[in-house]
This record gives sequence, structure tokens and C-alpha cells, in this order.
Amino acid sequence: MKLVFASNNKHKLDEVRQIFSTDVEVISLQEISFLQEIDEIGETLEENSALKAQEVWNWIKNHKLSSVIDGVFADDTGLEVDALGGEPGVRSARYATDGHDDEANKRLLLERMSGVENRAAQFRTAVALILDGKEYLFEGVVRGAIAAEQHGEGGFGYDPLFFPEGGDRTFAEMSGEEKNAISHRGRAVRKLAEFLQEKI
Ligand code: IMP
Repeated sequence: MKLVFASNNKHKLDEVRQIFSTDVEVISLQEISFLQEIDEIGETLEENSALKAQEVWNWIKNHKLSSVIDGVFADDTGLEVDALGGEPGVRSARYATDGHDDEANKRLLLERMSGVENRAAQFRTAVALILDGKEYLFEGVVRGAIAAEQHGEGGFGYDPLFFPEGGDRTFAEMSGEEKNAISHRGRAVRKLAEFLQEKI
């Protein structure tokens, strides 16, 4: 089965490719020459992931690639902080600026959490799949806590600020395999992979 993953984020592609069996080939947007930006205009993670998957599937059909590609999946992730009422949530990428600036986002989060005792938070991922003309949704959540400062060099985005529950290392201090085993995206994509195994 050949599926396009509607993302240009190399970290995400690496994480996702680790999860699928050899029966599922994960193809990037670059590999099908889909080069435009997709606007994330939805109000929820679920809406945004579905919008992305739909836009890419329409593009595939218009470019007559649907005979060689079976479907598309897309993810949207948000960091939901309890003390901030679930913020930044669906706006995680554009928290500080419109420009997906990870450093500015982390700075703003640390600022908003300065002096806040309740550090509880979660990463949540919604994955939308379009296959055989039908749409499916999968969710993955990992609870944890916001660090007081950045720890670690690995991962991406808010990883240096997130201690997954029960651990004393942030996602940025873990290997890709360790993060994938417990992460929001790992959990959502494993649900997708299990669903696909029944279809193959
Ligand atoms: P999106 O799902 O690519 O729209 O990501 C939303 C925001 O969350 C961006 O700022 C990403 O950098 C961040 N983000 C997404 N996934 C992760 C993750 O696994 N770890 C840390 N930050 C993430």
C-alpha cells in the first residue's frame, strides 16, 4: 500500500516511517512534487488534519496520481497546557508569530508559565486518513509537564520543554525510538498502522 503523508516536516516523516511495516510505503509531499503550503485554517486539530489530507488527496486526483497512490494521511498536533486553559493548542505553530518560529514559541511559553506552579500539559495529535473515498480519524495523547527551561538537543518544536509523564528527561533528551514509543504522534500513527493492517 502506498500512502502520502501530508507533511514536509522531516522529523515527522522520520518518526512516522519508523512505525509502519514494510507493507506500507510512506511517501512525502516532496516526492509527489506537492510544493505549496497548506493553510491550517481549522479551529480544531481534527479539522486541520482533515483539511490537509483532503487538500492533498484532491491534488493527487487532479494530477492523475490516484491510480498509483492508495490514500493520504495528515497529522495536526497541539501542546495543551492545563494552566493556560489548553493553550496554545491548535495555535501551537503560530503561538508567538505567524511564522512557525519554534524559538519564539518556546520563549513565549516559558514567559506565560513563569511562576506557574501547575506545569501539567499534554501533547495531542489528530491523524486524518483518506482511503477508498472515506475519511477516518485517529488520536494520540501523552500527558506530561512543562519544564522551567529547555533541556536537550534532539526532536523539534516544543520537545525541549516537555517532560512526558513518569520521566525525568524531555522528549529532546530521548532518541527518536524512545520518543516514538510513548509520544502523541507515535500513539496516533500506531492506531492508524493497526487499522491499515486489517485492510492489507
Ligand atoms: P503541526 O502539527 O506541524 O501543525 O505542529 C504544531 C506545532 O507543534 C508546531 O509548532 C510544531 O513545532 C509543534 N509540534 C508538533 N509536533 C511536535 C512534537 O512531536 N514535539 C514538539 N513539538 C511539536
